[in-house]
Amino acid sequence: MKNVIFCVMMGVIATSALYAVPGGSVVAKPGPACPPPACPESKDKCKLSAQENKKLVLDFYNQVFVKRNFSAVDIYYDPNIIQHNPYIGDGKKPFLDFITTSKPVPAEIFRPVAECDLVYLHVKTEDENNKPQAVVDIFRVECGKIAEHWDVIQDIVTNAGNPRPMF
Ligand SMILES: *[C@@H]1O[C@H](CO)[C@@H](O)[C@H](O)[C@H]1NC(C)=O
Repeated sequence: MKNVIFCVMMGVIATSALYAVPGGSVVAKPGPACPPPACPESKDKCKLSAQENKKLVLDFYNQVFVKRNFSAVDIYYDPNIIQHNPYIGDGKKPFLDFITTSKPVPAEIFRPVAECDLVYLHVKTEDENNKPQAVVDIFRVECGKIAEHWDVIQDIVTNAGNPRPMF
């Protein structure tokens, strides 16, 4: 943030420093290139950093899905969370009902990525019949709470068209 303010100040100073060039015309000296404003599309009024949001989501995921410590839902879920998984309702209770009654399955996180208020996790897990699955979970974080969730789920196949694992 300090860098951005400094950059904007330097830009203002530089562009106001008009100077004469041979031939008589006056041009503005270009200022330093400024970074784009941080996360203009972020809905988070607290403006937490992507790294802070990623740390929060990783702790939530590890506590809830790996350690089955469900008190982390109370700590990290916004009471009015907007849910896009079609099998779970909005709010904290439908998710708690789902997770506390679901059977424990492994959950291994690959490639956590955060940008602004969004955090993406690529997760290797299993369905309730122990069928391996690849999941991308997407969380929107607002003021330190998970405020919205989407997921995309794909079966892990054994007859892949290439020799590589899906993770
Ligand atoms: C459960 O998770 C929360 C949030 O990270 C943490 O504060 C608490 O200590 C955890 N409880 C246990 C028993 O690990």
